[in-house]
Amino acid sequence: MNTIKIGLIGLGTVGTGVLQMVMNNQDKVSNITGQNLSVKTIVVHDVNKPRDVDTGDITVTEDLNAIIDDPEIKIVVEVMGGVHPAKEIIAKVLNAKKHVVTANKDLIASAGEELAAIARENHCDLMYEASVAGGIPILRTIVNSFSADNIIEVKGIVNGTTNYILTQMQQHHWKYADALKKAQELGFAESDPTNDVAGIDAAYKMIILSQFSFGTHITMDDMAVEGIQNIQLSDVKQAAAFGYTIKLLGIARRINGGVFAEVGPVLVPLDHPLATINNENNAVMVTGQAVGDTLFYGPGAGGLPTANSVLSDIVSVTKNIVLKTPGIRLTTSRIKSVLPRPAKSFTHTTWRLRCPTSLAKC
Ligand SMILES: NC(=O)c1ccc[n+]([C@@H]2O[C@H](COP(=O)([O-])OP(=O)(O)OC[C@H]3O[C@@H](n4cnc5c(N)ncnc54)[C@H](OP(=O)(O)O)[C@@H]3O)[C@@H](O)[C@H]2O)c1
Repeated sequence: MNTIKIGLIGLGTVGTGVLQMVMNNQDKVSNITGQNLSVKTIVVHDVNKPRDVDTGDITVTEDLNAIIDDPEIKIVVEVMGGVHPAKEIIAKVLNAKKHVVTANKDLIASAGEELAAIARENHCDLMYEASVAGGIPILRTIVNSFSADNIIEVKGIVNGTTNYILTQMQQHHWKYADALKKAQELGFAESDPTNDVAGIDAAYKMIILSQFSFGTHITMDDMAVEGIQNIQLSDVKQAAAFGYTIKLLGIARRINGGVFAEVGPVLVPLDHPLATINNENNAVMVTGQAVGDTLFYGPGAGGLPTANSVLSDIVSVTKNIVLKTPGIRLTTSRIKSVLPRPAKSFTHTTWRLRCPTSLAKC
């Protein structure tokens, strides 16, 4: 049986999970694809760092050229994170005619179109299922299972850190600062939590979800984005008294031939499915014209759940290599117009009083 060689850039939380899954799921993958998979080379920042996984006879190096210049390596998995130098590295890898799988939402939200164009020029695949909602296979579901339906709206809890904080505030009556501290202790929040608590991470994911759901390229400038930093315990208690919970929702909706996207804290009725998504979990609700509401729930982060999404991309790329069909566009541009963000951005009070129209009666 032929073996497809993989280059891995990054051996942190996700990289370690990817290596473990490639090693442990050989039989299943080869049954599906008719190919063996093997990680040949791993590039890291510091080769002397102790690792949580046995790398055996795999080459571990700080030299990126060990992957770029190796004609045997066909698929490169980027799990180092950040926009730079990840963007330049992925461009280099694609120009070397290697397929790329990444989990990097910051990069895909800001430079996904550019990198997808480079991938197409080189007849290579660029896949990023793990970039939205970690372990939930949502992008492929939208592409495959909603291909014949018109998506009207996609919304959800796409940031585990903020959902963990809001859950603790609601269930244990912790103040925001205490819940954030606990999230940091448990590794759910970074030491600088700004990207998560300010709604930026959720906005990146909504950009990618909008691209897949509507074929529309939205930028951060098109979106009203508000985080949870100003939510107080009294807000959470008051919401509960009126039968609501506060969730940080990302919402992208088709309105009058355009797409409107936003992120912010929203009052969700306690009997709505999204109100039951607690702690660090994520959920994405996709509403199709024909099918109505569908809900996808699961872990939004973590080494193995995220690695599972990365591996499903690797399997798709492998199938494309076998079928000689790589480089096909995953999304097609359908709705060109992006509705402008409100002239005056939503105030905290406005957010607190508002609720998406589809979230039952508010
Ligand atoms: N963690 C999650 O649950 C999760 C979920 C969904 C998506 N993601 C995304 O997955 C990606 C990886 O996240 P992570 O949590 O696994 O990160 P991480 O634990 O910080 O690991 C990053 C890895 O990249 C390596 N690295 C950093 N800069 C490098 C460079 N310039 N050249 C070569 N290697 C470099 C590091 O090397 P050293 O080990 O030598 O320092 C480390 O092994 C990010 O884009 C993140 O947004 C993560």
